Amino acid sequence: MVRKSVILGFLLTVLTTVIKAEDPYLFFTWKVTYGTISPLGIPQKAIMINDKFPGPNLNTTTNNNIVINVINNLDEPFLFTSGMQHRKNSWQDGMPGTTCPIPPGKNFTYHFQAKDQIGSYFYYPSLGLQRAAGGFGGLRINSRALIPVPYADPEDDYTVLIGDWYTKTHVALKDNLDSGRSIGRPEGVLINGKAGKPDGTGEPIFTMKPGKTYKYRICNVGLKMALNFRIQNHKIKLVELEGSHTLQNLYDSLDLHVGQCFGVLVTADQEPKDYYMVASTRFLKTVLTSTALLRYEGGKGAASPELPKPPVGWAWSLNQFRSFRWNLTASAARPNPQGSYHYGKINITRSIKLVNTVGKIEGKKLRYALSGVSHVETETPIKLAQYFGVADKVFKYDTIKDEPTKVDTSNILVQPNVLKIEHQHLVQRGLMCVCRVEPGKWTPAKRKNYNLLDAVYRHTIQVYPKCWGAILLTFDNCGMWNIRSEILEKRYLGQQLYVNVGPPDYPRGMSTAFQQTVSVVALSRACLILSLPETRFNLVWRGSAWRLVAQGRW
Ligand SMILES: *[C@@H]1O[C@H](CO)[C@@H](O)[C@H](O)[C@H]1NC(C)=O
Ligand SMILES: *[C@@H]1O[C@H](CO)[C@@H](O)[C@H](O)[C@H]1NC(C)=O
Ligand SMILES: *[C@@H]1O[C@H](CO)[C@@H](O)[C@H](O)[C@H]1NC(C)=O
Ligand SMILES: *[C@@H]1O[C@H](CO)[C@@H](O)[C@H](O)[C@H]1NC(C)=O
Repeated sequence: MVRKSVILGFLLTVLTTVIKAEDPYLFFTWKVTYGTISPLGIPQKAIMINDKFPGPNLNTTTNNNIVINVINNLDEPFLFTSGMQHRKNSWQDGMPGTTCPIPPGKNFTYHFQAKDQIGSYFYYPSLGLQRAAGGFGGLRINSRALIPVPYADPEDDYTVLIGDWYTKTHVALKDNLDSGRSIGRPEGVLINGKAGKPDGTGEPIFTMKPGKTYKYRICNVGLKMALNFRIQNHKIKLVELEGSHTLQNLYDSLDLHVGQCFGVLVTADQEPKDYYMVASTRFLKTVLTSTALLRYEGGKGAASPELPKPPVGWAWSLNQFRSFRWNLTASAARPNPQGSYHYGKINITRSIKLVNTVGKIEGKKLRYALSGVSHVETETPIKLAQYFGVADKVFKYDTIKDEPTKVDTSNILVQPNVLKIEHQHLVQRGLMCVCRVEPGKWTPAKRKNYNLLDAVYRHTIQVYPKCWGAILLTFDNCGMWNIRSEILEKRYLGQQLYVNVGPPDYPRGMSTAFQQTVSVVALSRACLILSLPETRFNLVWRGSAWRLVAQGRW
């Protein structure tokens, strides 16, 4: 009897969830233009969103539907992506392999959902070296009110985007790479678009009320450099890493590698005055540093010009990384704890060894590769080619081997790099757990030492020089997904690949709305004019979907 009522109760919950009204919609219009900024004292061309650099913060809540009409007023194509997860919808992921860029003077409306996730992320341009000119901004996904968060509501929630900065334009940096040279070292570091010096000048970027606790979402939006982040006299309590609640350890400073975001709590528990927030480069002989002022409300006194020292060496960084653990009992975006998933119990069905290599092509041009293949974008995005049934004309699947040989790693082949992976029918969202990062060479025996319990689920991982890292991924999210080096010059020069999860004809199962999105994308973009010889294409409505029909001969 008791059991029955429990089951009934469960069914009722399911029913009410299904009947419930659609999740809220948030609408935005983003105008993308050039602007002039001089963060390092030299005026330079930047990419602004709604006249802002960095762009506006995207403030969303779990399951919100987000609709952004992006108007590209640049004289070059534009496209942006973010670290958030798109459930079964790689069409909105904004990577050049899945979406056509927005041509100059045109607009495109992104439509995606922050499904079953929380956390701190940022969005950024995904084409060429545009990220070097800005076009990025913070993206936060708040927890829904009914899901408890493992800390008290902070007094306020601040976004801090730190990153290295170059004074050359994104076009000049791209020309560098196209001609086979590296982009070299950055000239400075920016905090929310500005490079501050500890000279007593400058306005505070944030204020704190004495005694109150604030949440800071810190992301490294730079191109190349790992940065150390710290605040004079204040401890930093880590509470969230790219969407997962962590064990709440206190740190004096945190190392953020490119692309990483941390959610931390800072309590205004010091003498009420000004303090510097500091971001400085790691693993560089000449350390580049930037500061920003924090002010206590009603406080008196300038910040001390003496900045806390950065840590030295990468062993410190690796040790800190090892202290990051998942809080298994904290609630997740779904109403059960994060650790209820037991990822360590999932049987491993495929192991892929990716080796990063660097080499020269045509005798002199720098290229980076994964297991010997250096990815190049195709004129028709690979996802669209696949959708319209012409994948074989545009790219080949599985050109890298799961276990690379010496030949694979000593040669560099420049071609699209696309892996095909079977869809795994698991009910939960895909996981990327970093179960180990260690110096030396990986061998199968190292599997014994993996953390199969509380490694943090996140979307970026740093692998230190002459080290290896092991990650566990669950491929239950159908679509075409990009796996990439976050170091922009390496990515641009080929260190990335696409993973096709699930049957290639998956979009046939898409809702009508999605099919329409795809056909609109296809019709409005120049990139679908497949430049295959002697072939013309027609889009026709067949049954319930648009199909691309080739005329002429192959
Ligand atoms: C962000 O969204 C949340 C939830 O809707 C709201 O409570 C908060 O005030 C918003 N913050 C900002 C800065 O807009
Ligand atoms: C472009 O913007 C207009 C409104 O400004 C909108 O009606 C239209 O749907 C947008 N087009 C696309 C492809 O998003
Ligand atoms: C983990 O989360 C639980 C549940 O919210 C919380 O009570 C606990 O303090 C957290 N543990 C740590 C070590 O942060
Ligand atoms: C893993 O494989 C074992 C042995 O084949 C099986 O008993 C177990 O149920 C599998 N676990 C999962 C989660 O599929």
